[in-house]
Amino acid sequence: MTVSKIFSAMAVSLVFTACAHSPAPESTSLYDRLGGQPAITAVVDDFVDHVTADKRINGQFANTNIPRLKRLLVEQICAGSGGPCRYTGRDMKSAHAHLKISDANLTALLQDLSRTLDKFKVPDKERSELMAILAPMKGEIVTVR
Ligand code: HEM
Repeated sequence: MTVSKIFSAMAVSLVFTACAHSPAPESTSLYDRLGGQPAITAVVDDFVDHVTADKRINGQFANTNIPRLKRLLVEQICAGSGGPCRYTGRDMKSAHAHLKISDANLTALLQDLSRTLDKFKVPDKERSELMAILAPMKGEIVTVR
């Protein structure tokens, strides 16, 4: 499956805190609809655990400080979704430049994320909004064509 297909499959598939009876008002930030810091932390935890168990890509994380990576991903998603955080990590180009990341590597990582979003039953709308935040980063992360 290609990266663009994964992004669109995520858009049409499954909130970290799904609440069928009282949908959040339209004006609520994605951060709040996702369930705020606790839900984002739980999602990042599960996602990174999938990634570090994924033989397709876990070699690239061999020298990575995983607790730090999790903390930075939570900050990044929190800030990007309208939450009260500031991202304190490196820009995406500098953080990934040495890793020789291919399209296939990104596809694998997004499949792992998709599994986590399935598990947490993140609804279509929030899922596609999250993907819309991540998708533009591809050009800075994938360096092997
Ligand atoms: C949309 C996709 C991605 C996002 C949003 C993302 C986000 C991040 C963030 C926020 C960091 C921390 C930056 C820092 O260390 O200051 C990071 C580091 C890292 N990412 Fe990604 N990443 C993505 C894709 C990938 C892919 C596809 C791989 C490899 C398969 C990957 C491998 C790594 C590794 C190994 C590090 C740690 C680098 C180091 O410690 O030197 N990332 N990423």
